[in-house]
Amino acid sequence: MAHAAVAGLASLLLLYAHVHVRADAAATLVQGQLLGGNDTLVSANGTFALGFFAPRGAGGNPERRYLGVMYAQAAEQTVPWVANRDAPVSAASGAYSATVTASGELQVLEGDRVAWRTNTSSPLGNVTLTIFDSGNLVLSAGGEGAQAVVVWQSFDHPADTFLPGMSITLDRRNGAVRRTLFTSWRSPGDPATGDFTLGIDPLGSAQLYIWQSRGGENTTYWRSGQWANTNFVGVPWRSLYVYGFKLNGDQSQSNGIMSYTFSTYNSSQYRFMLHPNGTETCYMLLDGTGDWETVWSQPTIPCQAYNMCGANAECAAGDNGQAICSCLKGFEPRSAAEYSNGNWTLGCVRSAPLTCEKNISGGDVFADLAGVKLPNFAVWGSTVGDEDACKQSCLANCSCGAYSYNTGTGCLTWGQELMDIYQFPTEEGYDLHIKVPASVLETGSKTRRWTTVIVVVAIVVAAILAACGLLLWKCRRRIKGKLGIVGRENKKPSLLRLAREARQDFSGPKQPDREEAEDGKTCELPLFAFEILAAATGDFNSANKLGEGGFGHVYKGRLPGGEEIAVKRLSRSSGQGREEFKNEVILIAKLQHRNLVKLLGCCIQGEEKILVYEYMPNKSLDAFLFDPARRGLLDWKTRFHIIEGIARGLLYLHRDSRLRVVHRDLKASNILLDHDMNPKISDFGMARIFGGDQNQVNTNRVVGTLGYMSPEYAMEGLFSVRSDVYSFGILILEIISGQKNSSFHHMEGSLNIVGYAWQLWNADKGEQLIDPSIRGTCSVREALRCVHMALLCVQDHACDRPDIPYVVLALGSDSSVLPMPKPPTFTLQCTSSDRDWLFRDKADESYSACDLTVTMLKGR
Ligand SMILES: *[C@@H]1O[C@H](CO)[C@@H](O)[C@H](O)[C@H]1NC(C)=O
Ligand SMILES: *[C@@H]1O[C@H](CO)[C@@H](O)[C@H](O)[C@H]1NC(C)=O
Ligand SMILES: *[C@@H]1O[C@H](CO)[C@@H](O)[C@H](O)[C@H]1NC(C)=O
Ligand SMILES: *[C@@H]1O[C@H](CO)[C@@H](O)[C@H](O)[C@H]1NC(C)=O
Ligand SMILES: *[C@@H]1O[C@H](CO)[C@@H](O)[C@H](O)[C@H]1NC(C)=O
Ligand SMILES: *[C@@H]1O[C@H](CO)[C@@H](O)[C@H](O)[C@H]1NC(C)=O
Ligand SMILES: *[C@@H]1O[C@H](CO)[C@@H](O)[C@H](O)[C@H]1NC(C)=O
Ligand SMILES: *[C@@H]1O[C@H](CO)[C@@H](O)[C@H](O)[C@H]1NC(C)=O
Ligand SMILES: *[C@@H]1O[C@H](CO)[C@@H](O)[C@H](O)[C@H]1NC(C)=O
Ligand SMILES: *[C@@H]1O[C@H](CO)[C@@H](O)[C@H](O)[C@H]1NC(C)=O
Ligand SMILES: *[C@@H]1O[C@H](CO)[C@@H](O)[C@H](O)[C@H]1NC(C)=O
Repeated sequence: MAHAAVAGLASLLLLYAHVHVRADAAATLVQGQLLGGNDTLVSANGTFALGFFAPRGAGGNPERRYLGVMYAQAAEQTVPWVANRDAPVSAASGAYSATVTASGELQVLEGDRVAWRTNTSSPLGNVTLTIFDSGNLVLSAGGEGAQAVVVWQSFDHPADTFLPGMSITLDRRNGAVRRTLFTSWRSPGDPATGDFTLGIDPLGSAQLYIWQSRGGENTTYWRSGQWANTNFVGVPWRSLYVYGFKLNGDQSQSNGIMSYTFSTYNSSQYRFMLHPNGTETCYMLLDGTGDWETVWSQPTIPCQAYNMCGANAECAAGDNGQAICSCLKGFEPRSAAEYSNGNWTLGCVRSAPLTCEKNISGGDVFADLAGVKLPNFAVWGSTVGDEDACKQSCLANCSCGAYSYNTGTGCLTWGQELMDIYQFPTEEGYDLHIKVPASVLETGSKTRRWTTVIVVVAIVVAAILAACGLLLWKCRRRIKGKLGIVGRENKKPSLLRLAREARQDFSGPKQPDREEAEDGKTCELPLFAFEILAAATGDFNSANKLGEGGFGHVYKGRLPGGEEIAVKRLSRSSGQGREEFKNEVILIAKLQHRNLVKLLGCCIQGEEKILVYEYMPNKSLDAFLFDPARRGLLDWKTRFHIIEGIARGLLYLHRDSRLRVVHRDLKASNILLDHDMNPKISDFGMARIFGGDQNQVNTNRVVGTLGYMSPEYAMEGLFSVRSDVYSFGILILEIISGQKNSSFHHMEGSLNIVGYAWQLWNADKGEQLIDPSIRGTCSVREALRCVHMALLCVQDHACDRPDIPYVVLALGSDSSVLPMPKPPTFTLQCTSSDRDWLFRDKADESYSACDLTVTMLKGR
């Protein structure tokens, strides 16, 4: 009964708050006024209300009343701040209230008894209490506006909730340590001070900590990881950054004070809350329903809790999120018995001492551990300028056990105990280099020699089988009288290549289990607010434009943290709904390969659909290739490296990724170059985003670019992985010749690049095709081989063209004999028999090796 009454009362309260908003309820309580049990103060725009409430969560006492700040528009009771959390008043007393006294104090009264007080006073008089739109409750004195002096404010005395405008502070000036601490409720229904406390590490590491106190003991429950410029090392995907989290002051604390604040980029309400169970969660208030959506939360799995695996071990999450501990390289369990029992508390110890400690020969080296939450207790080397200096500083110091260098954190080094290492399941996290005696890496390979032998044998057998398959395929084609043969002399290099490929497949980005595991998780792709992207690109200023394509314009942007990004604002005609688009982008974000441009996030707001990519300092390939002044910067080695890289990127798209993406618009301007001139394919998800059956992006053309389009695609709208192979062939010719003349209309006697290349090659004058600016320095043999490969790729019939695995294989071995390409005919007239033939692939067994997936485009 009591419960129902309380609930009724509370909903009345909420209703009351709403009514008050419209009736222009007071936001201020002046000296001497009473705020009764059924009264509320409402902030100017109606976001927050102050009043008495009975907690509705489990574990509370329905007879207790608390004075608190509440969200007026949330569907469920949400109380970011409570005044008398440890001194409730009783509902039974009936006469409870709050007031501002003449001396300038806020008090919570039960009858005449003062249950709770702010312990403040002000000589200025005329003290008022105001609830602001930020959620801050302020006692001020001396009148309104500029003269007002803040006597006390709730933002300085937080409960369990961190709001925009608040700060989490560590102040070590004048020898004292002052800091902001957030304390959880005891249970969802009991606001009393609970077991968990959140604050900045008092030792000055700039990390956020959650401590747990239990039975008088106080232990670390969670830490955020080091601050890395825009996010915490332990908080992936820059999600905090997207929500405007930032460090004020710096890690070195030169002025003795640092604080974290956050601001929201749009008008949505966000809050960070420390739950009674120790989980810190960021919520966003949904406008329509008043429900809270979880934006981010930690710790949610055991590995994210502090030091699950003990010292010198790493924690990886299993399929059900359970912790899987293992010792770092060069370490072994301190107690094998306990370790095998699943008791990790003792952690691991070095299996062999560092040579510098024992003064023995051999030297120390570093074992690399990629993608982790870096260990605790790092020493920040503020003066160490680069990775090598960081490594040397660790080598030079015998007590240094590990180092890590990256742009976000700079040089970090650790002592001998490495605590709390979490292995991220995705490609996030940071690289850690652990110092081990050189003998560890050697003996490691000795003990694993047999496994290695087995793996190598397996790979070689697989390679031989693959080669046989290939041979068989080629023979078949030869029987068909279509093609020449694959050479048999000296098969070694191609086997090696195959083995290398196989190993890459094994360790590379294609890890089905992981991908599968990710499917279950919620998407961690950051959603950028439109405002932040607009700000980053100077309101999409044309001065920042990097390029434009059929899908939209690309702008260079700089996030407030200094990070450079490329922002692609899609034209509005994707024809996809919001959710479909988002799903598509999330899928595409999972395509990760070193030869694909990395998608960092996206923005979907109203009509706007925007993709955020990593920024490529060296722009696109065409900016080098077709610029006579810069063409010379690309020597042959670089060009070959670029050709190989594109082929690998395509291999991943065509074969190794789950999505099997056909790019459809491969061209020089879609090949971007990173700092080290590694090629990265961009725009690779566009064909999917813009719908497989939608050809109209720029009104007067098929998706794709004239000159790069295969005949069957340009003429018939048929596309397959082999249309990409065609475009790739054109790209090779352009890279080698440095010429862009790929007009498809060659009828007027002038040849396009395909015809030109064929004529020269056929007349044994292929060298003439090579760009004069590299002719002197390049390996003519290698270049001609590339031309040969290109001519195979640009054959008229899709089925004659090799597939990308073959291209990668053949480019890598310089001794296998390539088949003779057929001359390009340029008839461009697709006879009906040709068309039949294209559609026949699945039906006719003899074409199955071609594995065309043909899609017909509607209309043109
Ligand atoms: C609040 O209103 C209810 C119903 O109108 C009344 O029974 C109750 O006594 C009031 N409480 C206070 C503290 O005034
Ligand atoms: C006010 O002072 C009393 C007595 O020292 C103390 O118990 C109480 O916690 C103080 N109130 C606040 C809000 O700090
Ligand atoms: C009320 O004001 C706050 C702080 O200025 C702002 O964040 C919020 O969006 C406003 N809410 C409404 C409903 O206007
Ligand atoms: C106190 O401040 C309020 C609001 O500014 C004003 O209306 C009132 O006259 C002041 N009272 C005194 C005693 O100064
Ligand atoms: C728990 O211990 C840490 C480290 O000693 C300290 O900074 C923190 O204030 C303590 N927390 C509580 C609630 O006592
Ligand atoms: C802690 O409580 C929150 C809110 O009830 C819940 O979402 C979360 O899963 C809990 N975390 C753990 C580790 O139990
Ligand atoms: C794990 O080992 C430690 C150290 O020997 C011991 O104190 C602890 O009780 C063990 N924990 C469990 C769950 O067995
Ligand atoms: C280490 O070896 C060097 C030369 O072998 C010797 O000079 C030095 O004293 C040794 N140091 C220790 C601590 O044994
Ligand atoms: C603010 O941004 C978030 C995430 O980007 C989005 O979900 C939310 O709808 C936005 N709010 C408004 C009012 O646009
Ligand atoms: C590529 O970009 C990097 C960084 O901007 C620059 O140092 C390098 O010189 C560029 N390479 C070429 C060939 O322009
Ligand atoms: C293509 O380039 C070659 C060599 O640079 C030239 O001979 C030919 O005329 C060009 N064709 C067109 C269509 O520009």
